Amino acid sequence: MPKNFKRTTVTAALPYANGPLHIGHIAGAYLPSDIYVRYLRLKGEDVIYVCGSDEHGVAIQIGARKEGVPPKQFVDKYHELMKNTFEAFGISFDIYSRTTHPVHYQTAQEFFTTIHQSGIFREEVSEQYYDEQEGLFLADRYIVGTCPVCGYDRAYGDQCEKCGTSLSPKQLINPRSTVSGNPPVLKPTRHWYFPLDEYEDWLREWLLKGHAHDWKTNVYGQCKSWIEQGLQARSITRDMDWGVPVPLPDAKGKVLYVWFDAPIGYISATKELKGSEWEKYWKDPDTRLIHFIGKDNIVFHCIIFPCMLKAEGSYILPDNVPANEFLNLEGDKISTSRNHAVWLHEYLRDFPGRRDELRYVLTSIAPETKDSDFTWKDYQQRVNSELVGILGNFVNRVLVLIAKYFNHVVPALPAIVAEQRIMQLWQNTEEELNRTLAEMVKALEEFRFREAQFQMMNLARAGNKWLADTEPWKRYADDKAVTAFILHQAMRIVATLGFACEPFLPDTAKRIQRQINFLSNANNEAVSFWKNSRLLALQQNIMVPEKADLLFTPVPDEQIETQLERLKKKEKTMDEPNQQTKLKPLKPQISIDDFAKLDIRIGKVISAERVEKSDKLLKLVVDTGIDKRTILSGIARHYSPEELVGRQVTLLANLAPRKMMGIESQGMILTAENPDGTLRLIQSADEISPGATIS
Ligand code: 2FM
Ligand code: ZN
Repeated sequence: MPKNFKRTTVTAALPYANGPLHIGHIAGAYLPSDIYVRYLRLKGEDVIYVCGSDEHGVAIQIGARKEGVPPKQFVDKYHELMKNTFEAFGISFDIYSRTTHPVHYQTAQEFFTTIHQSGIFREEVSEQYYDEQEGLFLADRYIVGTCPVCGYDRAYGDQCEKCGTSLSPKQLINPRSTVSGNPPVLKPTRHWYFPLDEYEDWLREWLLKGHAHDWKTNVYGQCKSWIEQGLQARSITRDMDWGVPVPLPDAKGKVLYVWFDAPIGYISATKELKGSEWEKYWKDPDTRLIHFIGKDNIVFHCIIFPCMLKAEGSYILPDNVPANEFLNLEGDKISTSRNHAVWLHEYLRDFPGRRDELRYVLTSIAPETKDSDFTWKDYQQRVNSELVGILGNFVNRVLVLIAKYFNHVVPALPAIVAEQRIMQLWQNTEEELNRTLAEMVKALEEFRFREAQFQMMNLARAGNKWLADTEPWKRYADDKAVTAFILHQAMRIVATLGFACEPFLPDTAKRIQRQINFLSNANNEAVSFWKNSRLLALQQNIMVPEKADLLFTPVPDEQIETQLERLKKKEKTMDEPNQQTKLKPLKPQISIDDFAKLDIRIGKVISAERVEKSDKLLKLVVDTGIDKRTILSGIARHYSPEELVGRQVTLLANLAPRKMMGIESQGMILTAENPDGTLRLIQSADEISPGATIS
């Protein structure tokens, strides 16, 4: 770090509140930022770590339409789900806010107004594609048509994914709206544009010259090619009713473009977190601003947002943007629409108590310089041979040996150890440990977390080697002092690991610290270690537990097979409908009296849980207005229990009770099947009280 900063503001990309989180999100931005922030906190630095849900934009509006709910209800659901998942996974944000928060509306509008008053925006009327059926101006991604270059018939309005040509919607032949499927019409509309072209020279100076050496090459390379292709003014407003309203009297029906308001969300979240002190974290040149993002966000964080900050005039600029590339899954792109993903909330459910295992593997394979691949077999192999075999094994051996030979008390360092060989071995080991720690710290400072974690594990490797070279179990009978020396030093390595692993494996760090009373006894040494980069000296009389707690246990084959099967099945459920997209034929006619026999009413889900040994069924307790009853529903592959609680459902209330998997179901939840095979609940767009009947 060339400059001595007083504090650090760390942001992690605000995820769209339109679906659950998967391992790709975590590996891209959240795990690296969490590691970095935990490291800064260990050093005792002043740091804030802000994030929140990105709740505006066309994708959200369309997602809400598809679910038949108002956008606010839609984002409320996913915001809760993401917030809970981050928390359950131990991502240690100081605040997880949301862009529908009133503070954000105000902040984003003020930001716009300041730039507007400086006369920087351009105002222009242009013709844009409009979906008449949906009453919607269409974003480039929501228009498809035939590519004028290669003839591919599903090219997007901004790019043809087949030949890679970048396009504008008007170049497409036979354009269609992806929302309604209809051809859109051109309609004039007025918007405000940010003149990125006027910032080219400044960007060359600030970014291309100023950050040629400290930004990651993947990030710098992408920025360079953008700037060199020439920048164009970008419209920063949209015709929509969902978003932050443009704060001008003549801008009815217009909102800020989601990519204009979202990064300002970092600032709004800081206001919420720090109250009147917020400006220090955004305006003081002694503050270091770091954005953690995935590679698809590079242009927004390295070019557009810095230009916005510069135009506003009172803010600091990002000092680094350590973006990651993409994570694939089992050799294929992660795809939410194909359900080819490892969903974080599902992982937490299926692998309870194994948060650190996933953190470890995702950091080991982090896509820091190029795309990388997560496979379940590799996950198992790394957990079993590295976490269990190296780290867990070392800590456990030391604790067991101390319990056995020294009655659970860490032996004091003997005054004299006559054996030269042991002293020499320790000198080598200590040098190795110091080198490793220095490498680890350097890698952390340079955002090379894969390497940093590898060095942390090298501490455990050096510890295992120390035990193997000195064989204390063979020495106790004839030389207690040597055994005490060996195990005292081994314990220092355990204690060092107890905090060195904290940024990567926070649960494990706590468990090590707890077992050796490290927190209460040696916290100050831990801090001074970071200041001096030296191993701490342990205090006397530290007790180790009666029975050492294993830090890790092997992941069995069956658990991996289940995950692989599930992935295959999930993809199958998504694929099957393509083979049978035909609509079901009409059923034979019924009379109104037949219909009147059905008692269909509105209910509200009180609780939801999976049914053991079934990957289809969920057990719901539903408030039907007249009673609270158990209903089994075959929607487990389409909804998680968490997202159902509190939700309105439609049910057939007078269906004869049926027993499935040993549980009696008293009714049926009504769903509709999409052409892609996904099941959706039938729900009214307006809230209706439980018990209301449908006729
Ligand atoms: O790509 C995304 O998921 C965006 N929602 C990221 C926004 S980051 C920031 F600008 F808020
Ligand atoms: Zn093409």
